[in-house]
Amino acid sequence: MDKFIIEGPTPLKGTISISGSKNAALPLMAAALLGDSPTTLQLVPKLQDIYTFNNVIRVTGTRVDFHETENKLVIDPANLGFTEAPYDLVRKMRASFYMLGALVGRAGEARISLPGGCAWGPRPVDLHLKGFEEMGISIELDKGYVMASIQGDEVEGGEFTLNPSSVGATVNLVLGAVKRAKKFVIKNAAKEPDVVLLCNMLTKMGANIEGIGTSELTIRKVDSLKGVEFSNDPDRIETGTFMIAAAMQPGSDLTLTGCKPSDLGEFPKSFKKLGVILDINDTEIRIQSSSAIKPVSISTEVYPGFPTDLQAQWATLMTQADGESRITEKIYFDRFSYVPELNRLGADLRVEKNRVIVKGKTELEGAAVMSTDLRASVSLVLAGMVAKGTTEVLRVYHLDRGYENLEHKLNAVGASIKRVAEN
Ligand code: EPZ
Repeated sequence: MDKFIIEGPTPLKGTISISGSKNAALPLMAAALLGDSPTTLQLVPKLQDIYTFNNVIRVTGTRVDFHETENKLVIDPANLGFTEAPYDLVRKMRASFYMLGALVGRAGEARISLPGGCAWGPRPVDLHLKGFEEMGISIELDKGYVMASIQGDEVEGGEFTLNPSSVGATVNLVLGAVKRAKKFVIKNAAKEPDVVLLCNMLTKMGANIEGIGTSELTIRKVDSLKGVEFSNDPDRIETGTFMIAAAMQPGSDLTLTGCKPSDLGEFPKSFKKLGVILDINDTEIRIQSSSAIKPVSISTEVYPGFPTDLQAQWATLMTQADGESRITEKIYFDRFSYVPELNRLGADLRVEKNRVIVKGKTELEGAAVMSTDLRASVSLVLAGMVAKGTTEVLRVYHLDRGYENLEHKLNAVGASIKRVAEN
């Protein structure tokens, strides 16, 4: 397991190009299985989760060629014959559960391992399963696997309300319905850009989906879908993460290229309250930090609200703000594993129920800290770049799941991050 050794503080100056989105690419890869011909996806990031999902898809007999230097993925489902996704792969990455919708959509059956834990435990999939049953797909649970099947070629469909609005359940139900449900309505559907992009790709493949971009999707089955050339979105969470990195560092002047600012929803509104200089055009964002950061309290919401995937990074930023701020997490019950680690660096954060209270400004001092999940880990890297002295971030494999070439991108604009094998 590798670790990062980070020297700080290091203002960030220069340009970073944004990679393709992990969370948008995964549904597109699953959708490719529904095509009667090969699909080519552009702007696919070289990330552990992509490699993992490539292997999950290959288990079915589908051919997957990843032209890494071009970030291009070619998926040819012609020989798809094995409708299973095994536990030893699904447990590595929850989004493998999208294979349920993709395989039911393509083959009318699937045997998919439940992602870690049970259907109703932490990070549940109960909405996925209830939605498929409402659609008319039979669902059985057997020794940690979901067995899904349909009688005949199609199901009646129906109407299902997601409560809460779930990105993954929306993706899975759309994948299952486009070739199978006479008419299926998803109410309180997720509107995240990842869902809109998936629906746009399926429409290009020949699917019949109404209400794209709204919280009510109506899907009517079509008999066949064709493979397409399609481009992934740039990663909105990587974009927000680097915006925060620049704002944290006095003397920073960072330009992000290849962005899609419209995918950031209301995040720029909160960002502007910091008192930094923010210039946004249709593909670039420039951040010039100021000497003082204003405390800005936020609550995470579904799109277009403040993204939960930027919550940990925002808390780290608020350790440098002049005053107290409150960060409320409304999507997950407990997404604060980074708090004790940040406090080891000298921050002053206190968790109260689903809220973290941040007292700023605190001078951060380098120390050894532990990564626990993807977004918590990157918030520790941001902190290490501001902290005086040396910070060691352990178990950076969490980062390799979701940030392409992170240390190279940051070192190119002034950071000092060394990756070393952890003995
Ligand atoms: C997606 O996860 C993202 N992952 C997450 O990003 C992101 O945090 C999340 O959406 C919210 O935006 C991918 O796209 C691969 P949800 P997902 O279903 O689909 C509850 C990252 O860091 N729920 O929208 O799993 C659930 O417990 C990852 O890149 C149910 O109750 O999230 C949560 O409280 C982390 N039952 C809420 O809904 C269900 O059946 C939202 O979860 C499903 C979800």
